[in-house]
Amino acid sequence: MDARQLKVEAARAALSHVSSGMRLGIGTGTTADEFVRLLAEKVATGLAVIGVPTSERTAALCRELGVPLSTLEETPELDLTIDGADEIDPALTLIKGGGGALLREKIVAAASERMIVIADQSKMVETLGRFPLPIEVNKFGLRATEIAVGAAAASLGLVGPVTLRMTGSQPFVTDGGHFILDASFGRIPDTRALSNALFAIPGVVEHGLFIGLASAAIIAGGDGIQTVHA
Ligand code: 5RP
Repeated sequence: MDARQLKVEAARAALSHVSSGMRLGIGTGTTADEFVRLLAEKVATGLAVIGVPTSERTAALCRELGVPLSTLEETPELDLTIDGADEIDPALTLIKGGGGALLREKIVAAASERMIVIADQSKMVETLGRFPLPIEVNKFGLRATEIAVGAAAASLGLVGPVTLRMTGSQPFVTDGGHFILDASFGRIPDTRALSNALFAIPGVVEHGLFIGLASAAIIAGGDGIQTVHA
């Protein structure tokens, strides 16, 4: 099975947790896109759900495929969020934000009773940090924030390049109008300590460490589907 097929299988397995009447948080990324496609097929045959998208990109795909949408303002409490991840550790702490949607993804996940992560097995790691940690920052004071992020990490023994995410020759801008720094610190043994250190920096809007948010991960691999519970 190729990587896309594994994403489809994880998304299909997640769909079995969705039932009529649910208020769904809908994630962002290529795996979440597969979930939207399968969800749309079910909606077309009568499944009655309302979705809150975690990005403009996901909103556009839902609209195109006919998945009914709401906003977090109209629907502030959600039953279930289905989303992808860049890395997942055995305790279901995640790195997210590879697609740049981490802020809305975290707000939506936190407003949900449950979050199920869908991924192929390449996303499972013993310790987070192989994937650069996305950090969403205010545009104002970018350089000062960059320096502060490096210093905060260094105080925890984490050292590595912190780079501004670009789209071509322009900085990548999130749906919230912020920039993203990608921090290549390597292994992050204490995610809570790094989270606290980053939140102490005024220019940091959000970071891609999702701690205690995922209730389960559905992982698709060559041997089939594995569900990991928090
Ligand atoms: C977007 C995310 C995505 O869920 C994450 O990047 C995984 O994406 P993909 O399913 O394309 O590998 O956090 O901000």
